[in-house]
Amino acid sequence: MKVEDVHYRTIGVGKDGWSVEIIDQTLLPHAFEFIRLTSVSEVAHAISHMCVRGAPLIGATAAYGLYLGLREDASNDALKEAYDTLKATRPTAVNLVWALDAVCKVVRDLPESSRADAAFIKAASICDEDVAMCEAIGIFGLSLIKDAMDGKTLGPVNILTHCNAGWLATVDWGTALAPVYAAHNVGIPVHVWVDETRPRNQGASLTAWELGSHGVPYTVIADNAGGHLMSTGQVDLCITGTDRTTRNGDVCNKIGTYLKALAAQDNDIPFYVALPGPTIDWSLASGDDIPIEERDGTEVTHIRGVDGDGQVQSVRLTPENATAANPAFDVTPARLVTALITERGIAAPNEKALMSLYPEFR
Ligand code: MRU
Repeated sequence: MKVEDVHYRTIGVGKDGWSVEIIDQTLLPHAFEFIRLTSVSEVAHAISHMCVRGAPLIGATAAYGLYLGLREDASNDALKEAYDTLKATRPTAVNLVWALDAVCKVVRDLPESSRADAAFIKAASICDEDVAMCEAIGIFGLSLIKDAMDGKTLGPVNILTHCNAGWLATVDWGTALAPVYAAHNVGIPVHVWVDETRPRNQGASLTAWELGSHGVPYTVIADNAGGHLMSTGQVDLCITGTDRTTRNGDVCNKIGTYLKALAAQDNDIPFYVALPGPTIDWSLASGDDIPIEERDGTEVTHIRGVDGDGQVQSVRLTPENATAANPAFDVTPARLVTALITERGIAAPNEKALMSLYPEFR
């Protein structure tokens, strides 16, 4: 997607031809800067500190992490250590393990001398495939936005989204926002209600920034405003992403998604979830078994922003030493999901429909 009319991807190879460059998402929307990654530990830090985040981008970054590790030491022991280090960075998004396994499968039977090159090629292809999958999600999702437009006498189509499932969460296009960009690019008037997404505010800082940079109209709302907007006819449809979807169509996404799905159902508003195939965990029968990341309580007690002098500051919201809990994801049961938008088409949220799109997992 575009920033000041220049097209960017979230991850790529550095100018030296071997290091890995990412956008430092912890600085957005206040600064647009890149970080150069050269080792497994730098990649692990970038994922766990959320310089990169979003399920598909976590996977793509981890794949490059294995490549960087193999450049230093391509032995089986070093590969296992790098795999374990990267796997431990964040527990919920299944794309992380999927990408690590995909790289390991390619390199494990190769001689040590060719492992790093093979891992590099695999990581690059994971990135290219992610872009293609997200673009396809956009095309399938566009039909749903067109349908919503046809049912209205007046535009724009008002779409509510939660967290950031845009291009910043993937390599390009995004999942939930891919249909939005596809609609905007063909001239369908869209407007996005952007949940701020406490505690880390991915909506207010990342979704708002990327939509604005691409020229898509949006309005940031407090997380608690969605139900009111839905019950007063100001939302036509909801689209969110997911970090892990189980065989029965349950979806695990950023904390607060479940409440939006409940409000959508009560107001008869379609609630769509967009995902590429690698976000499906075929090993899990339902969302009950998904590990939910618990993050540091300071993300709840404190908030970051820019002061009047343009300096980024963190301030405390709570009494000193307040206790805070910070579950980072929740599970929305399939019964609250209208449909899943995948790169292979739109599926009802159940095992039969998913299996018919992905017969290789039968
Ligand atoms: O904690 P984050 O910012 O990594 O959480 C991201 C989300 O919850 C996204 O909605 C999800 O990864 C889908 S991304 C296309």
